[in-house]
Amino acid sequence: MTLTPGRARTGRPVVARTREELARALDVTRASGGRVGLVPTMGALHAGHAALVDEARQRLGEAGPVVVSIFVNPLQFGPGEDLDRYPRSFDSDVEVCGRHGADIVFAPSVAEVYPDGQPQVSVDPGPLGAVLEGATRPGHYRGVLTVVAKLFGMVRPDLAVFGQKDYQQLVVIRRMVADLSQGVEIVGGETVREDDGLALSSRNAYLADSERRTALVLSRALVAGASAGPRGADEVLAAAGRVLEEEPAVDLDYLALRSPELGAPPATGEARLLVAARVGSTRLIDNVAVELGGVG
Ligand code: PAJ
Repeated sequence: MTLTPGRARTGRPVVARTREELARALDVTRASGGRVGLVPTMGALHAGHAALVDEARQRLGEAGPVVVSIFVNPLQFGPGEDLDRYPRSFDSDVEVCGRHGADIVFAPSVAEVYPDGQPQVSVDPGPLGAVLEGATRPGHYRGVLTVVAKLFGMVRPDLAVFGQKDYQQLVVIRRMVADLSQGVEIVGGETVREDDGLALSSRNAYLADSERRTALVLSRALVAGASAGPRGADEVLAAAGRVLEEEPAVDLDYLALRSPELGAPPATGEARLLVAARVGSTRLIDNVAVELGGVG
């Protein structure tokens, strides 16, 4: 049977469960030429993930094989986090991948990815791994970088797409690729939101209706903060903070204004406003670009 990417795209993508199956599927599709694209996910795919697959497809053109990996990586979950109840919807995930032009779904088991158990060598995220999300979730970015480095090793992509929704993750991955000279082009896809502003997340499935309404305060706070950008950093934080205070049911972890690389914010120019909070037992994060004007 000959399998061309175009043909795979009209129906179900090839599902590879092992590294060997992946290598075989990649050999077939790689032979058609073009660059290889990777979209790493933990499944429970929604329109935010789908947009990343579209982005990969668009950047690669018709020839380039697009691989979506679906793997709930135990290494990045801390004790007491939601590893055991993380939502899973494999069949519909494969369908979403097919509809959005993926050629291969790589869905390995934990034993396939970590055949020797916990790896002895892992990727240290450096100082960025200890701030913001990293401060609340110790070990999280080490787990993320280690699995992403492994996925890069297994798929050997030319390009990989990650969402700005997890902004710190995107920044830490860019840092890894630069510092370890991995030679993968990293693309940051825009955050996809519901009409009412809520950023799509697999974890939104945990929210009861009333919690979902409460959660809207996060995106509202970010919009308020971003629109205060011309008045400078202090006003951005004050405006966002005022909105968050309207909703006492939100248990704020942090509201932070940073440079695009997550250092100290500049006096003027591009910055990033990030928020994390618990709504009920669900931890939510969101962020937005801010243009600081420094106008008093
Ligand atoms: P997961 O949470 O499944 O997310 C997979 C990718 O989808 C990430 O790059 C994430 O930023 C992006 N994404 C999630 N919600 C989005 C939204 N509303 N709009 C745009 N993109 C969105 O992030 C992970 O998995 C894991 O940490 C992973 C990178 C796969 C490593 O295990």
